[in-house]
Amino acid sequence: MIALMTTQRSFAYVVLAIVVIGGAFVVFAQMRKGRAELGSEIELAPNRKEYLPDEELEGPKLNKALWAAFALLAIVAVSLPMYWLAEPGRQHGAVEHYQELFTHRGETMYVTGAQCVSCHGTKAVGGTASFVVTDENGQYVSTVNWTAPSLNTLMYRFSVAEVKDILTYGRPGTPMPAWGVAGGGPNTDQQLKTVIDYLWSIQLTPEEMRAQVDNAIKSVDEGLHDRMLAVREANAEVVDPVSDEFERLDRADELWIGEILFNLDDAAAGGNAFSCARCHVPGASFGQPWSPVGEIAKGALGPNLVGIEDRLTENQHFLLVTNGTETGKQYGSVGLGSGRMPGFGVNANNGLTGDIRKFGTSGMLSPEQVWSIVTYERNLSKERAIVAATNENEGED
Ligand code: HEC
Ligand code: HEC
Repeated sequence: MIALMTTQRSFAYVVLAIVVIGGAFVVFAQMRKGRAELGSEIELAPNRKEYLPDEELEGPKLNKALWAAFALLAIVAVSLPMYWLAEPGRQHGAVEHYQELFTHRGETMYVTGAQCVSCHGTKAVGGTASFVVTDENGQYVSTVNWTAPSLNTLMYRFSVAEVKDILTYGRPGTPMPAWGVAGGGPNTDQQLKTVIDYLWSIQLTPEEMRAQVDNAIKSVDEGLHDRMLAVREANAEVVDPVSDEFERLDRADELWIGEILFNLDDAAAGGNAFSCARCHVPGASFGQPWSPVGEIAKGALGPNLVGIEDRLTENQHFLLVTNGTETGKQYGSVGLGSGRMPGFGVNANNGLTGDIRKFGTSGMLSPEQVWSIVTYERNLSKERAIVAATNENEGED
């Protein structure tokens, strides 16, 4: 499109040059003619001069005029459709140009303006932020390194509107500040939009993202990884993952994959973007998971999931983790969504006008991975009970 725009522009320059040079030439010719005329009226006034004979007028003269008219008509007939054809391209080019401009401005804000880079890392691969944890009374508890999730898969788990909400209000009680004016931050909506444009431009492709999650499992156990891929392959044709047709992994494998993904906190594997613990386990974001809340203060956005099997059926659970929640919409039979629980099984922006990169329908986790996490979470009460009992036996608390 840029190439087309430049050809159009150079074409316009050529036409302009022809018009200017031609105009100058006409003026010059007229001036010369005018000078030659001097004194001629004394011999014979121009209006008395004998004009061309009829044969000349109705013959070559008329033909010349008609041909000239035809040539002008041809120019209009060709150039109008050409303009009409090129117009959508030009508009598209203009949109792309502004997209690039915003992306660039967003990058400037990401790197220097708001310094998101200092916590979320270069190209938003994830990082950490030093943070002082305080208790309910504002008393110092400890200074910790809080994981800032990678944002290069952000658009798969949060819709544009949800991202804007996070940026505007930040995450109170965590190192993530509020950036929007409405949340008490310094930036206008337009500035936030440019940052979001920048984030769009650095999203991983669906294949890169899938590989990132799969490799996190592979790095723990290759056999587990291969069994997972085999089940994925076997389900390739199954449309509805919540049906009997869907083939599941062994329970032991599901528990294991679920545990890996639930707790994942490894910058190399996408920060802790895939981790559920960072939002559901107080302390998980700074390496002190499951400690009693009183000891480490808060620091987790979502509810405690121990005992979730009593609140959601297995299918409700699967659908919730797949789709996430929406503001004000009920989930399961009693939950009320805030839009802050991301959907991990579907692309949050697919089909919306905001999805400018058209990244498709895939979410961050494939169905057998979501089932695995669901199984793991529904087993948390047992696991916590075992941990608690062990601690008691060891005389710790
Ligand atoms: C001082 C460090 C810091 C800075 C600066 C910062 N963030 Fe964050 N951000 C964090 C932390 C830590 C979290 C995780 C909070 C939590 O645990 O809930 C986070 C969370 C987020 C999330 C939610 C991601 C998710 O999956 O939950 C988004 C989006 C985000 N930040 C975007 C930005 C952008 C854009 C900027 C720059 C305008 C920015 N952040 C600047 C530390 C920071
Ligand atoms: C960015 C933070 C965040 C992450 C990451 C996150 N959740 Fe959530 N989750 C929430 C919030 C917030 C809620 C409460 C519902 C709401 O506010 O919409 C929730 C609710 C839930 C619930 C329902 C709990 C209840 O008691 O009703 C389940 C189940 C759940 N999440 C599972 C998961 C799983 C599995 C993962 C990882 C794959 C995950 N969550 C990752 C924020 C998060």
